[in-house]
Amino acid sequence: MHTFSMWKNKKIILAITGGIAAYKMTTLTRLLIKAGAQVQVVMSPEAHTFVTPLTLATLSKNPVLTDFQADKRSGTWNNHVELGLWADIMLIAPATANTLAKMANGLCDNLLMAVYLSARCPVFFAPAMDLDMYQHFSVKQNISKLTTHGNHLIPPAYGELASGLKGEGRLAEPEYIFKELENYWLSQNKSDFWKDKKVMLTAGPTREAIDPVRFISNHSSGKMGYAIANQLAKLGAEVHLISGPSQEVADGNIKIKQVESAQEMYLASIKIFPQCHIAILAAAVSDYTPAEKATKKIKKKSEDMHISLIKTPDIAAELGKIKKQGQCNIGFALETDNELKNAQGKLERKNFDLIVLNSLQDAGAGFGHDTNRIKIIDRKGQIQNFALKSKAEVAQDIINQIEKTYQNP
Ligand code: C5P
Repeated sequence: MHTFSMWKNKKIILAITGGIAAYKMTTLTRLLIKAGAQVQVVMSPEAHTFVTPLTLATLSKNPVLTDFQADKRSGTWNNHVELGLWADIMLIAPATANTLAKMANGLCDNLLMAVYLSARCPVFFAPAMDLDMYQHFSVKQNISKLTTHGNHLIPPAYGELASGLKGEGRLAEPEYIFKELENYWLSQNKSDFWKDKKVMLTAGPTREAIDPVRFISNHSSGKMGYAIANQLAKLGAEVHLISGPSQEVADGNIKIKQVESAQEMYLASIKIFPQCHIAILAAAVSDYTPAEKATKKIKKKSEDMHISLIKTPDIAAELGKIKKQGQCNIGFALETDNELKNAQGKLERKNFDLIVLNSLQDAGAGFGHDTNRIKIIDRKGQIQNFALKSKAEVAQDIINQIEKTYQNP
């Protein structure tokens, strides 16, 4: 079990209302507890129809609260004001149309609403309802009122709804909600440094075409590069992301250039680099490409076949050659053996200012994982070791280190 430092002892009120998606909050509770947060579940009475308090109390390691009165005979009660002050974040998920209406109008007919009205912490809400309900003008108006007053909307996802209809209204997936909260913690550490910085990033794999249907590529998901790009955008940097094929989603403020081959990535990089303060080379660029790319699909003929490969441009090394004072280049190394020596060699050869070393030997690190364990090496030979963390946290560690190095090369 990993405890991510940013979540440690963070106090979360998870407020669950009566929608079919309430069961998904079991997964979110597990994610939050696993990350090290303290979770207090508050349910509306209707939510009990969809998921049991026993399940949530067990997963959150805390009794679930629903009623104002804790014990009728002794007169003990659940203090909504205390709960509202205790929390670092309140999340209302799923937020039904009924609860949204109550929130927007200050109604207070259950403990959950009293906690909401007493909360001084940031409030997140994740609506979930059927297609036409979510499109209704009154629901839209309520959501707009809530966001105008500083509540954070976690929008519903598009997909199949419990009614069988397809569209917007499905509760955002627990993993997505978790990431949204994580991004919120990270954005609390805002530094002005990035506000006037232009940053280029390469991310994802490249694809080297053999013929119109086949290519050579690698397992890179682009997760690490996108996590850094998204975090930089949130910190106010002007981010130019040159991305190979990836499923990841870039922040709306990022200028993204989609490429396929190493040659395309090279041409896009060389064009933007002279205008940038910082270049982060996180792509897993194919080192070789077929010498000839067939224009038609290659047919099966003999038992064996050979493809002649030629070297691709080393983007990082080329940028290293033209790097000027006031520019800072950061590279990545993924090594299976002799990690430190190989990474240090790359730092020199490619004229990096910092190199981030991923080890494939660590469980949970590297391709496709949501976690990563890194070391960062600088030109003075200093090596910093980091713990296994979520990729969003690793992104912040890398960003902090770049900021320090840029200011004190
Ligand atoms: O030599 P190696 O591929 O291990 O170097 C890794 C670093 O160099 C990464 O930062 C990667 O993005 C960059 N690189 C590049 N162009 C290449 C190969 C690697 O920019 N053709």
